[in-house]
Amino acid sequence: MKLLITAGPTREPLDPVRYLSNRSSGKMGYALAEAAQAAGHEVTLISGPVALPAPAGVDRVCVETAREMFEAVRAHLAGQDAAIFAAAVADYRPVAAAAQKLKKTAAALTLQLEPTEDILGAARGLFGFRGYLVGFAAETERLLEHAHGKRVRKGCDLVIANDVSQPGIGFDSAENAVTLCLPDGQSLPLPRQSKADLARELIAFIAPRAALKSPSNPG
Ligand code: CTP
Repeated sequence: MKLLITAGPTREPLDPVRYLSNRSSGKMGYALAEAAQAAGHEVTLISGPVALPAPAGVDRVCVETAREMFEAVRAHLAGQDAAIFAAAVADYRPVAAAAQKLKKTAAALTLQLEPTEDILGAARGLFGFRGYLVGFAAETERLLEHAHGKRVRKGCDLVIANDVSQPGIGFDSAENAVTLCLPDGQSLPLPRQSKADLARELIAFIAPRAALKSPSNPG
């Protein structure tokens, strides 16, 4: 089956040498891409700037900004059986990026920000995606309430909830502990494990459900 995965942060330029970004190593998204490829799926990985090499056999599309990620997802989403949005997209960008490096003055500096494109939020409506849709919810409080809310709002089949207030998991670490938020409102906690093991478990969960939803599935 065909899977699209977004991974990593985005960078929103402030001037030629500075940007706003999110804490994200891309490890979870890349682990998912590797696990899906190893399970025999055809993987398109839309990646923000990370320090990781492209996994072998995966078609990687590199982007910088939220707008570029939005356009890359728009261009590659048709025909995918599942889409997993693991990227930590910046929610805001500077209204205008300065053409020259901003110089320091004694005065305080106020940045004016505008919202970026909501890529996951565009999948069902704007992009008309009918396949199996997976979002991540990185939260610091009321994890399951926020994650289930996101699942309903964005039309996801599954939201993978991540408590980023816990030390040693999530951001930039090798391990993760997540809870699966399912359509019937049920929550299924998975044990803490390496991102590689978790990715294999997630792909094993997602692939058969995506196959059932696939337009090419006769049943
Ligand atoms: N996401 C996205 N495009 C954005 C922001 C987020 O595609 N501009 C995706 C992420 O890849 C993730 C999911 O949306 O799968 C949740 O991201 P998060 O920032 O937690 O959600 P928001 O809807 O921005 O909610 P909030 O800021 O209220 O937590």
